[in-house]
This record gives sequence, structure tokens and C-alpha cells, in this order.
Amino acid sequence: MKKIGVLTGGGDCPGLNAVIRAVVKTAINDYGISVVGIEDGFDGLVKNRVKNLDYETVSGILSVGGTILGSSNRADPFAYVEEQNGKMSKKVDRSDEAVENFKKRGLDALVCTGGDGTMSIAHGLMAKGIPVIGVPKTIDNDLYGTDVTFGFDSAVQIVSEAIDRLHTTAQSHHRVMVIETMGRYAGWLALTGGVAGGGDIILIPEIPYSLDAIAERVKFRSKRGKRFSIVVVAEGVKLPGGEYKINHRDEASHDPVRLGGIGVWIARQIEEMTGISSRATILGHLQRGGSPTAYDRVLATRFGRDAMKFAYEGEFGVMVGLKGDAIKTTPLEKIANRQRLVTPDSPIIMAAKSVGTSFGE
Ligand code: F6P
Repeated sequence: MKKIGVLTGGGDCPGLNAVIRAVVKTAINDYGISVVGIEDGFDGLVKNRVKNLDYETVSGILSVGGTILGSSNRADPFAYVEEQNGKMSKKVDRSDEAVENFKKRGLDALVCTGGDGTMSIAHGLMAKGIPVIGVPKTIDNDLYGTDVTFGFDSAVQIVSEAIDRLHTTAQSHHRVMVIETMGRYAGWLALTGGVAGGGDIILIPEIPYSLDAIAERVKFRSKRGKRFSIVVVAEGVKLPGGEYKINHRDEASHDPVRLGGIGVWIARQIEEMTGISSRATILGHLQRGGSPTAYDRVLATRFGRDAMKFAYEGEFGVMVGLKGDAIKTTPLEKIANRQRLVTPDSPIIMAAKSVGTSFGE
């Protein structure tokens, strides 16, 4: 093995640069091999856009958010879409060009950092002969094959800080504050951030809710002298009719649905049913920005280092993941197109219920 490539696919999150740094430094220090970065996720592979990553390039990026390589949650070599003058072209299979470019660059392996979309594409490229190894990233924490993804802890920190701030204004105005988190179809971010911020009611897609139960809890708190309530809602929580609240569609993306707006809707219902003034805040992309937490820096460094190690040892078609305190690999076919959801008997839900948190049941 002489040269490998690394790319960051899908939505960005804090810790991507820490992975890039760990892959490059491990490659140079432990194995004496060189690394190139593929620009803008799989787009750079289709269009043959790369940059050399030497020691100097990755120096000082451990604590920096985002990704120095750029990312894209649109560029899928198997269903590639071009945008011109605001119009999308048809989806075309350009995976042969991606494989051709990989070979032309003289690469021996490809480290793909991303979420479920990236892992599905990596799995497809493996079948076409590219030796790939995956690194699990997402603030949603919904990937199979790992107890936790990097980026999640940083996003939880942001949610929890936002709730702290909204707490004081909720208290002052005797209001209900609804905070909508990201997380797609999984409730990990709302649940963990909500518990960390002391949310009174937490709504997640995995637990069905009733508006009556929510209104009752808010009124009950009010009667007991707590004239404000904090309600944390995951963007993937459905309307009572069973449909998602969709903000818009990004047709070029691997998963075109963009959720958003359920928090505003819940706030309106609470106000109507209780007569207590309610406001909603959608945290949105704030949850993906800024510097990674210490936990994410360490996890990303461990993932990057071990991905390089497994690649050097020839273990391909797998994703590294944290199991207990060890880094283990899982075959990509077990990860692609699956979601790891919160289970109602999760210890964090048990703890939240014991301290009086309602899940709107
Ligand atoms: O998967 C990460 C995520 O931030 C989700 O939580 C969110 O639903 C989605 O990406 C937003 O995507 P985009 O950045 O394309 O708006």
C-alpha cells in the first residue's frame, strides 16, 4: 500500500477534520504512506478533484468544525445529478468514472466518512472493486454498527446549551418554549439533548404522543406553580394523522425529504389547548456547526486511526464503530439502508421518566 484517498460525504458535522487529521498522521507516522483528499464527497471522485494531504495541511485542524475537504449530500456516483441554471438533470450512473478516477490516481484504498447514505454508496463502490472502509459520522446518531457516531456529542451540547438559554426566557414570561431538534427519523438528539437540558416534555418519533397528554402536563405544571414548560421535539415526530412535517424536498439528494416545522405546529396546539403563551425555536443547522467537543475529538481521532490501521491490514468493505470501549468493524452490507432507532426501554428514557419527564404518552 502506497497511497490512499479520504473523503467526507453527506451533511457535515463537528469532528470531520479530526478524522482527516488522524487518517493522514497515522498513514505517515505508522505506515509511511501518503494520503489524498477527495473534494466535496463523492463529487470529487466522479469529477477527479483531489488535493494532497501532507502533515502541514492537517496541522491545526483538530478543533475546527466542518471539513477542509468539503462535503456533499447530493453527489451519488450511482445516481448522479447535475444542476445547471437552477435545473436538475436526470440521474445518471457515473460510478464507472468514479472507479476509473480512483485507479488513475493510483489509490490503494478509500476511507469514506459519512452517514447511512455514504455507507450505501461505499458498499456499491466496494462491489465495483474499490477497497473501501467506512467511518461513522452524523449528528443523528442513527447508524448501525456503532454505539455512537462522532458529531453527536457536539450536537447534544448545542441542544443542551440552547435549552438552558430558552429556560430563562420561558421562566420570565411564563411561557411554553418548544425546541425543535434535527435527527431525521431518529430521536437520539432530542432525547439526549432534552434530558441534558432538563426538558419537561420530550417528543421523539419512536414514542407515539397525544396532544391531550401534552396539554395536561403543561396545565399540571402550571397549577403546581411552574408557570412555564420546556418541550423538546425531534423533527421526525409525526402529525396526529401520521404524516411528517416536511419543510421542502432536495430532489438531488440521496434522501430528498427535508423535515422541519413540527415544533411550530406543536407550539400552536399547546397555546390553543392551554391558553398559555407558546413559542417555538427551530435549532436547525446550528446543531452541525462549530468546534467538536472533547469527546468527539477523541472518538474521531480513534476512528480515523483505526480506519487507517484496518485498511493497511487489508480489512475492507467494513465500517469502524465503537462497541463498548473498543473499536470494531461491521460489514457495510449490514449497515447500508438501515437506521438505529431509540428503543422505548432505553436506559436514558427510564432515567428521564424517573425524574418526571413526560414523553407525551
Ligand atoms: O443527517 C444530518 C441532518 O442534519 C439531519 O439531522 C437533517 O434532517 C438533515 O441532515 C438536514 O439536511 P440538509 O443539510 O441538507 O438541510
